[in-house]
Amino acid sequence: MAIGDESNRQSLISIKYMNENTNAPNASRRRFLALLTHGGWVAAMGVLVYQMGRFLGARGLQTSPAPLVEAGMVSDFPPGSTTYIGAARAWLVNDGERLTALDAVCTHLGCLVQERETAVSGFHCPCHGSEFGADGEVERGPAAWPLRSLFIEVTPDDRVIIHG
Ligand code: FES
Repeated sequence: MAIGDESNRQSLISIKYMNENTNAPNASRRRFLALLTHGGWVAAMGVLVYQMGRFLGARGLQTSPAPLVEAGMVSDFPPGSTTYIGAARAWLVNDGERLTALDAVCTHLGCLVQERETAVSGFHCPCHGSEFGADGEVERGPAAWPLRSLFIEVTPDDRVIIHG
C-alpha cells in the first residue's frame, strides 16, 4: 500500500466515523421527537377520558326515574317551598298558588340543576351555568329550553304523585 493509499484510508475512516457520530444525535433526536409525539397523544387521550368522566360524573350516570313516584303528602310542600324528590329526579315547587313539578335535568346537556342559593328562587345548572326561574323558564343559557314540567296528581287522600 502506498503512502497516499494509507492517507486515503485514514480519511475514509475519519469520514465514516464522523458520519456515524453525526447520525447518532439525529437518531436520538428522532427518538426524542417520536416519544414526544406519542407522549402528546397519550396526554391528549388522558385529557379526553378525564373530561368525559367529568361530564358523565356531572350527569351522575343518571338512571331513569320511576314513572310514578309518591312524593309525600300535600302538607309536606307548604307555600314557598322547593323540594327535591330524588326518586322522580324532580323539583316540587309550591309558589303559593299551585304545586308544580319540574324535571331536574338541565335541557342543555343533561346535568342535574340545583336550587339557587339567592334571594330570587329558581335553579342553577352547575355544569355550564344555565339559570332557570322557579317556573322552569330559561333566564340564562346556554340552555335554550325550559325545564320540563311533569304531571302531578293529588289523590283524594292528599298524596302527591309525580308522573315521570
Ligand atoms: S348541562 Fe346545564 S348548562 Fe350545560
